[in-house]
Amino acid sequence: MKIAMVGSGYVGLVSGACFADFGHDVVCIDKDTTKIERLRQGKMPIYEPGLDALVEGNVKAGRLSFTSDLGEGIKGAQAIFIAVGTPSRRGDGHADLSFVHAVAREVGKCLTNDAVVVTKSTVPVGTGDEVERIIAAGGTPYRFAVVSNPEFLREGAAIGDFKRPDRIVIGAEDDFAREVMREVYRPLFLNESPILFTSRRSSELIKYAANAFLATKITFINEMADLCEKVGADVQDVARGIGMDKRIGGKFLHAGPGYGGSCFPKDTLALLKTAEDFESPVRIVEAVVKANESRKRAMGRKVLDALGGADAARGKKVAMLGLTFKPNTDDMRDSPAIAIAQTLADAGVSIAAYDPEGMEQARPLMPQVTMCDSPYAAIEGADATVIVTEWDAFRALDLARVKCLARAPVLVDLRNIYKPEFVRAAGFEFVSVGRV
Ligand code: UDX
Repeated sequence: MKIAMVGSGYVGLVSGACFADFGHDVVCIDKDTTKIERLRQGKMPIYEPGLDALVEGNVKAGRLSFTSDLGEGIKGAQAIFIAVGTPSRRGDGHADLSFVHAVAREVGKCLTNDAVVVTKSTVPVGTGDEVERIIAAGGTPYRFAVVSNPEFLREGAAIGDFKRPDRIVIGAEDDFAREVMREVYRPLFLNESPILFTSRRSSELIKYAANAFLATKITFINEMADLCEKVGADVQDVARGIGMDKRIGGKFLHAGPGYGGSCFPKDTLALLKTAEDFESPVRIVEAVVKANESRKRAMGRKVLDALGGADAARGKKVAMLGLTFKPNTDDMRDSPAIAIAQTLADAGVSIAAYDPEGMEQARPLMPQVTMCDSPYAAIEGADATVIVTEWDAFRALDLARVKCLARAPVLVDLRNIYKPEFVRAAGFEFVSVGRV
C-alpha cells in the first residue's frame, strides 16, 4: 500500500518510518527543502532514540523516500496523512490550523486517484469537516474520505509507542475509509493492538481529552506533593498507595516541576478554547493550566529557598542538570527549566547548566545560562546543584566529586530520583519534591 505523509516533523517522520517498517511504501513530504535534503542524507531533524537507524534501514530497503513536492509525493497514495504542526495561535491559545488547511487545499488540487485523507495532527473538533469541505472545494473528480487518527506518541519512546500502542483510534464516517484504515494498520491488527473505530468528532476529542486527563493526573500529584511537604508525608508513597487502586492506576503520578513539552501545554489550552466556543466549561482543565503555569516559577523559588532565601541567593551560583522538558529528547518547548532559570536570574543568581541533548535548543531560550560540557563542569563552584530533568546520566552522580567541586553541598532534586537518606548520608543538604 502506498502512504503519503505530509509533514516530516516529529509525528510525521516517526509515523512514516514505522509504516515503512511495516512494509508499506511511504513517501514523507515537507515543504522545508533543507529538511528534505538532510533527510535524504540520513540526517534527522530531531533527536529520537532509534529513529536514524529505522529511517536508514527503510530507505535502503526502498520503502521510504522524501520529497518536497506534494503533488509528486501523493501520486498514487491510497492514504494521505496530514501530520503538520498545529501550534497555539498567538494571543488566544486556539490551535492554529493554517498549515492543516493549506495542505488540504493542495491535496484537493493534486489528487490522482481515490484516497483517504487522514488527519494525524492534533486538531480541534470539527476540523475533519472543514478539511473535507476544503478538499471538495478543489473540485477533485476522485472519491475521497477524511479520517481522524490521532497520535499518542511520547517523545523519547515514540517508536515503541507507535509499534506497540495501547490503542489506535480511528474516526471515520464511511466504510471506504474504514476499509483503507484497516489495511494501513493491518500489521498492528495482527499484533492484536486494540483499534477503536468511532466518529470523526469523537476521535478528535479523544486526543484532547486524553492529554488533558494526563495533565490533570500530573497536576493532581504535584499539588499533593506540596501538601505532603506541609504535613510531613511522602508523595511517592502516596502515589504508590493510590496507584495500586486499579481504577486510578500508578502511571503519570510522578511529582515534579510541572509538565511541559509540545503537547500538554498547547493541547490543554486548545481544549479550553473549544470549551469556551461551545459554552461548555471544563473547569478542572482551567485549574490544571493555571496550577501548572505557576508551579514552574514556584520551583525556581524552591531553589532560592535552598540557597537561603531570595536575599541570600543574590550573587550565588546554581548548576542546573537537565534542561529539556523530559529525558531522551532535545525538545525544550515549555520546559520548566526556562521558568526556573528566569526566576533564578531575576533574583541575581548565576546559572551554569548541562543537558545531554538539549543545550543547542536551550541556548536561545536561556541567554542567562552558561552551557557546560559535563555535569561536573556545571557543578564547579556551585552553591546548589539542581536536577531539573531525570536523564539517566544524573541518576548515579559521583556525590563525593560533586561535594569536592561545588562551593556548597546542596542538592535540589526536582524529579525525586535520589533517596533522601542516601544523599544526606553523603553530607548533603537535600531538597526534593513532596518528601521531607
Ligand atoms: C505526551 C503524551 O504522553 C502523548 O501520548 C501525546 O501524544 C503527546 O504528549 P510527551 O509530551 O512526549 O507525550 O511526554 P510525556 O512523557 O507524556 O510527558 C509530558 C510531561 O509531563 C513532561 O514534562 C513530563 O516530565 C511530565 N510528567 C509526566 C510528569 O511530570 N509526571 C509524570 O508522572 C509524567
